[in-house]
Amino acid sequence: MTTISGYEYETVTTSPVTPEELQLLKASVLFGPADEAALRQAGEVLANQIEDVLDVWYGFIGSHHHLRAQFSGPDGEPVSRYLDAVRGRFGQWIWDTCERPWDEQWLAYQNEIGLRHTPYKKNRTDRVESTTHVPLRYLIALIYPITATVRPFLEKSGRTADEVDAMQESWRKAVILQVALWTRPYAPGPW
Ligand code: HEM
Repeated sequence: MTTISGYEYETVTTSPVTPEELQLLKASVLFGPADEAALRQAGEVLANQIEDVLDVWYGFIGSHHHLRAQFSGPDGEPVSRYLDAVRGRFGQWIWDTCERPWDEQWLAYQNEIGLRHTPYKKNRTDRVESTTHVPLRYLIALIYPITATVRPFLEKSGRTADEVDAMQESWRKAVILQVALWTRPYAPGPW
């Protein structure tokens, strides 16, 4: 098995969010058992297209200065080592989202991902010098491209339009729910 640089899924153990709070969040995005099944299907469909999905997302980030800046050094140039390391973890995250059980371990890594976008942990994993944090507003805004762009990949499965819709919606809910979890370190008070 290849090691993914900086991927510490098994290492982190604590989550400030309880399984009960996760249940309420799932209920709030209307994520139910049918979504769970559709998300598993999406995982199967995306599994052999992950690099292509990442090409689209990295193309998007790379073509916008304010997003590219979050991967850039003090000289304003993108740090390719940083981009490459995060790409490996990003690909793994697609699989984790679709295939991992959303248990306490998963919640603990959600906490870690949130922290890695903020001054608490950004840049630390890859030992790079870059911006102190990803602005929360961009995190929220990126939900749209991260969800809209998977549709063509889901359609390549040749499944029916209804099945593609179900996979797409489950993916959308999963991303919204995770970004909601990642907002916690940005708003430690009245979260
Ligand atoms: C890291 C997903 C928004 C920049 C990551 C990782 C994932 C991820 C899965 C790797 C986590 C790990 O280390 O295992 C997402 C999703 C987003 C989002 C789903 C929105 C829906 C953004 C935005 C930016 C950004 C808007 C700005 C360009 C970064 C950076 C890292 C990172 C710089 C590396 C952080 C570090 O130093 O460890 N993101 N992200 N992300 N993301 Fe995001």
